[in-house]
Amino acid sequence: MSIFTDTRVHTQRCILRPWQMDDASRLSAIADTRDISWNTSYKFPYPFDLPAAQRFIMFNTTNSGESSWQFAILLDEALIGGCGATRGTDVQSHTAVIGYWLGVEYWGQGIATEILDALVTYMRNETDIEQLSATGYGWNPASERVLTKNGFTKEGVRKGVVKKWDKTTDLWIYGKQLR
Ligand SMILES: CC(C)(COP(=O)(O)OP(=O)(O)OC[C@H]1O[C@@H](n2cnc3c(N)ncnc32)[C@H](O)[C@@H]1OP(=O)(O)O)[C@@H](O)C(=O)NCCC(=O)NCCS
Repeated sequence: MSIFTDTRVHTQRCILRPWQMDDASRLSAIADTRDISWNTSYKFPYPFDLPAAQRFIMFNTTNSGESSWQFAILLDEALIGGCGATRGTDVQSHTAVIGYWLGVEYWGQGIATEILDALVTYMRNETDIEQLSATGYGWNPASERVLTKNGFTKEGVRKGVVKKWDKTTDLWIYGKQLR
């Protein structure tokens, strides 16, 4: 049986590999911006200082390969973002919720679309997960586009359930059947 920490997923331009504690300083350098946190939950904080980066990596290396598959994204050996999937619980244990983000300077080059394609293939081929879902905020059409380009379909919208930094918006939900 393969060990999750040894996993390497190659995409056209990038490599996905599990998080390592020595990613922390570069992580805080690329993640410390409102532009990313605006579209993520408070688990992806702003400011994103070194202790926050260490907590993030600790969280994202817990239960790895069993109920959580979290990857650092590397481009030319440099950390540029993260992506992953987390297994649902109880009657949703056959499903997983995905997430992804990139440092701002890497936006707009098709990288998230490429990464999500690789994550979907990994989840289909290397795990028992049957269905993926993703949620996002009403003000994030770029992320919706990344999902639709990867064959996810919109399953619904929860009106006004997101409040981030005192601004309220909808939560959209996308899904994709893997098998
Ligand atoms: C969302 C995110 C991952 C996208 O990464 P990316 O590498 O720039 O995405 P891609 O280049 O692969 O694709 C983006 C698509 O959205 C489109 N897009 C960008 N801004 C848009 C907007 N305001 N309205 C509609 N479409 C938009 C792009 O044109 C592109 O589609 P196209 O290829 O058909 O032209 C990145 O912006 C990010 O990290 N954001 C912060 C974190 C985040 O939002 N994570 C997802 C939470 S659900």
